[in-house]
Amino acid sequence: MKMDSLDKLFEESLADLYSAEKQLTDALPKAAKAAQSADLRAAFESHLKETEGHVERLEKVFKEIGGKPEAKTCMAMQGLVKEADEAIKIEPAGAIRDAGLIGAAQRIEHYEMAAYGTARAFAETLGNTKARDLLQATLNEEAKANEKLTQIAENTVNREAASV
Ligand SMILES: [Fe+2]
Repeated sequence: MKMDSLDKLFEESLADLYSAEKQLTDALPKAAKAAQSADLRAAFESHLKETEGHVERLEKVFKEIGGKPEAKTCMAMQGLVKEADEAIKIEPAGAIRDAGLIGAAQRIEHYEMAAYGTARAFAETLGNTKARDLLQATLNEEAKANEKLTQIAENTVNREAASV
């Protein structure tokens, strides 16, 4: 692959994220349906709404760099979603499945945080402060979503899973 400028690598990383977020808008409703804890279901549902906002923010960033929103299949997210599907299929439904769902979702959030951190740094280096701020806003929401999952695991789900 020819890649002769940071601008192009930046656009490529946006295309990867665009694919990742779109995959998540399909995966999160399934995770919400599979979750038994009301808190966990609510967390997935509210992160779905945020994720739809992340897709829109990425469209704004594409506009900011004069590009068209284009997705390039994020293979890492495909793998992470496959692992989440395995957690969804854990039987019986209950705290153990929920603990599996949280583990899969936290790996997804960390992947996104890493990818947004890189893209944000590219925007910063390229002097595109508007793109940088949009990417930072999403990064903050991913970090909060991850913290929320930690709380649910620590406050209830892991303990309940241990007593099954
Ligand atoms: Fe996101």
